Amino acid sequence: MSTVKNPSIRRVPFEIMLDQKTIGKRVTELGRELTRDYNGRLPIMLGVLKGCLVFMADLIRAVDIPLEVEFVSAASYRKGSKPQDNVVLRGASTVPLKNRHVLLIEGIVDSGKTVRTILKELERQEPASVEIVTLLDKPASHRSTLDIKYKGFSIGNEFVIGYGLDNTQKYRNLPFIGRVLES
Ligand code: IMP
Ligand code: MG
Repeated sequence: MSTVKNPSIRRVPFEIMLDQKTIGKRVTELGRELTRDYNGRLPIMLGVLKGCLVFMADLIRAVDIPLEVEFVSAASYRKGSKPQDNVVLRGASTVPLKNRHVLLIEGIVDSGKTVRTILKELERQEPASVEIVTLLDKPASHRSTLDIKYKGFSIGNEFVIGYGLDNTQKYRNLPFIGRVLES
């Protein structure tokens, strides 16, 4: 039996939870909804890095109206799957948002803390509207009421990887969403 000394290259056991076809179908539906709801309004799609990476790339191509793309970055300083309390934002004040229709694009909402911190920062610029778009949501983990208008899938209180989502910065390149198994 071999032992891996460096824990950062250990592979986590997982099973496929949402395959590429299932995700693709849902992203197409979300794109249609946004196309219908934002027709004539030139929305800014503001991606939250890095988890939005793959979702954002697919979603913008499913929206059939003019739009702009910007990014903010949020790091919540987690060690693996254990949440800690600090959200560090970058870029939220450098994108001009006054009187704009903003769509905040997230890969996953867990406690809601990241999204809430970003919303608070964005509101200072007095955008015309802000809505949250997330591929995945863990409603049972929210720490207070959060109004998510566009959501791909609701999932339970489990840790997932792939399609842009990481475990200690790895697995973002998996083309599907995998559920990490307890080991
Ligand atoms: P929140 O602030 O608790 O809502 O956490 C949101 C952030 O935590 C996301 O933007 C992800 O970076 C990360 N996160 C939460 N749950 C998961 C998960 O199941 N897989 C990967 N990242 C996650
Ligand atoms: Mg992460």
